[in-house]
Amino acid sequence: MHFYRDNKTKHTVKNIAILASGSGSNAEKIIKHFQGSTKARIALVASNKKGAYVLERAKKLNVPSHVFSKGDLESGEFSQLLQEQKIDFVVLAGFLLQIPSNLIQAFPDLMVNIHPALLPNYGGKGMYGDHVHRAVKASGDTETGITIHLVNENYDEGKIIFQTAVAVSENDSPEQIAEKVHVLEHKYYPKIIESLI
Ligand code: GRF
Repeated sequence: MHFYRDNKTKHTVKNIAILASGSGSNAEKIIKHFQGSTKARIALVASNKKGAYVLERAKKLNVPSHVFSKGDLESGEFSQLLQEQKIDFVVLAGFLLQIPSNLIQAFPDLMVNIHPALLPNYGGKGMYGDHVHRAVKASGDTETGITIHLVNENYDEGKIIFQTAVAVSENDSPEQIAEKVHVLEHKYYPKIIESLI
């Protein structure tokens, strides 16, 4: 394990990398949560999408960012970059590519994901973003929620760390369900990450 030593505070500060493919509202909350923390800092925001809004957010918050390709991820080049940058912990926040085993092996039990539903329901390949909320709506379920879990080779099957639910009413649209889920994500994801590092 690598540590970034902050000489001013004499604390070892863990380096977190956030991987995101889209808007990055969770990434922003996590960055803000760790601003001024003596435990960890967001050392890098990385995206597989050149135009992803998460990169704008990182820039505004003065966090270094990096764009990489699916090829970089699969070849192990990206994993090497994270290790060169002395990243200790990886956070997936709306990251849409499957994580290859080279990255999982580089960060064993040190990579976490958030899923916008109560796994094992509405998980697996193709179940992301609005697909999840539309499926919840179509099912008539009276609740949904969030699942924070460790990452392994299979989509959404790593060890569950935290879940919490919110009520869904008959009249909620998939967009309204998404909004409710985002509220939970923003409230809990930064705190759960902090408890894991
Ligand atoms: C979140 O709903 C998260 O659960 C899912 O992707 C979405 C990302 O949202 N994995 P944002 O980009 O953080 O706003």
